[in-house]
Amino acid sequence: MKNDKNKVFIFDTTLRDGEQAPGASMNHQEKLEIAYALERLGVDIIEAGFPVSSKGDFGSVKEVARYIKNSTVCGLARSLTKDIDAAAEAVKNAQRPRIHVFLATSRIHLEHKFKKSQEEILNMAVEAVKYARRKIGDIEFSPEDASRTEKEFLYRILEAVIKAGASTVNIPDTVGYSTPQEYGDVIAGICNNVPNINKAIVSTHCHDDLGLAVANSLAGVVNGARQVECTMNGIGERAGNASMEEIVMAVKTRADFYGLSTNINTKEFYRTSRMVSKATGFIVPPNKAIVGANAFRHESGIHQDGILKEKRTYEIMDAEDVGGPSNEGLVLGKHSGRHAFKDRLKALGITLTEAQMDQAFERFKDLADKKKEIFDDDLITLVDEAGNTSKGFCLLEDLVYSSGSHIKPKVKVTLKFKGKTFKKNSSGDGPVDASYKAIESIIKIRAKLLDYSIQSVTSGKDALGRVTVKVLVGDQSVIGHGASTDIIEASAKAYINAINKAMTLQSVKS
Ligand code: KIV
Ligand code: ZN
Repeated sequence: MKNDKNKVFIFDTTLRDGEQAPGASMNHQEKLEIAYALERLGVDIIEAGFPVSSKGDFGSVKEVARYIKNSTVCGLARSLTKDIDAAAEAVKNAQRPRIHVFLATSRIHLEHKFKKSQEEILNMAVEAVKYARRKIGDIEFSPEDASRTEKEFLYRILEAVIKAGASTVNIPDTVGYSTPQEYGDVIAGICNNVPNINKAIVSTHCHDDLGLAVANSLAGVVNGARQVECTMNGIGERAGNASMEEIVMAVKTRADFYGLSTNINTKEFYRTSRMVSKATGFIVPPNKAIVGANAFRHESGIHQDGILKEKRTYEIMDAEDVGGPSNEGLVLGKHSGRHAFKDRLKALGITLTEAQMDQAFERFKDLADKKKEIFDDDLITLVDEAGNTSKGFCLLEDLVYSSGSHIKPKVKVTLKFKGKTFKKNSSGDGPVDASYKAIESIIKIRAKLLDYSIQSVTSGKDALGRVTVKVLVGDQSVIGHGASTDIIEASAKAYINAINKAMTLQSVKS
């Protein structure tokens, strides 16, 4: 990959390190959709998975490699021939395949994990890179725990792997231990002391255990790194990886300071962030920089007044630049016509077929009857929701419940299941529990609720509530979503959405 010296390559590892976040596993379809979104975003390299780790991972990497045309597709491998064989096989059909080989190099890993000397590790790394290079032309090497590796050894191993054929050397702060000053010094030390470093691109890979992943990555870039490894929403192992949207927007907003650019189409951030959140079930905190619901909202009167006088008094970026909902808030209401509805969806980058548009407009009218003001976030949820609930084995037709401080909660659920209508009364600890029991007894499925969360889509007492559930069906854990102005109904929809997904996965397998 040729580099213009002011360009920073974005290497996204949402589908690999991101998926290593506890509870973030995604299915094939979700991974492919995210890969398409990353390609639209303009990501240079997509690390699609760790092919040797499971059949499922191997299959997803292979599929991403097959369909993605504009980004390099990369598979991770330990420095073992069986890993490299699996990675090479999985990425070989990509337009631009890459293998990412890694091996730990810090004293603590050598002594406790491998019980090997530095010389043995150096030889293993060189042999692995040579082996991988014979299979695929683009090889990246990572000395795992690089930031805690002795400098002289780090320089030596990097020189050797570059000589063996690595064209990218990635420097992981695996345990998120570095400070920005230290990490910047590590990168500067590599650029100044590895004799053949001009033959490779230096890359950052920072974890967020001390909340420093973005600051460390940027310190790396300032000191000569030209590839950044990151994830959407900063998801990843433990506290996560450096967040792509924060790094890219820092480089863009402070171009005066960094003097660098990326290929990223930042207008795709909001949409991609919501997609990753939906697939993983990890909610984006409202105060999350760049993609949080409050990232561009102003509450204080002083700020609002300043903004009305001159936007730049309190805003350093435009919400539109990251594809966020318009700051003006209210967009549509009960009297808005189909034309205005369609125009607003278009402005949000949402395209629907005529049939989908008819359905979405009907839902919009229903919502407008319950909710006076319809915001951009409501529209995004409404369209999402149509995708969640209009297909599948099972559809919620009606839900009636009674509940109170001194009465036993009761529900009556009407479901359309495999073409027939079923009704079931049930009671439970609360109306959500009662409705889940009714659903399970109609579908005759044993499901275990692992996680449940509820978020309001916008502000206001009449706001839509969005429920996300994680459900274990057999040995399959699935995420489901549902939204409604009635949170019990939203809960039932989320549960049904998860069960539909599990049943789809099971029918694909059998
Ligand atoms: O954090 C880490 O060290 C990694 C490597 C596999 C690159 O994810
Ligand atoms: Zn990592």
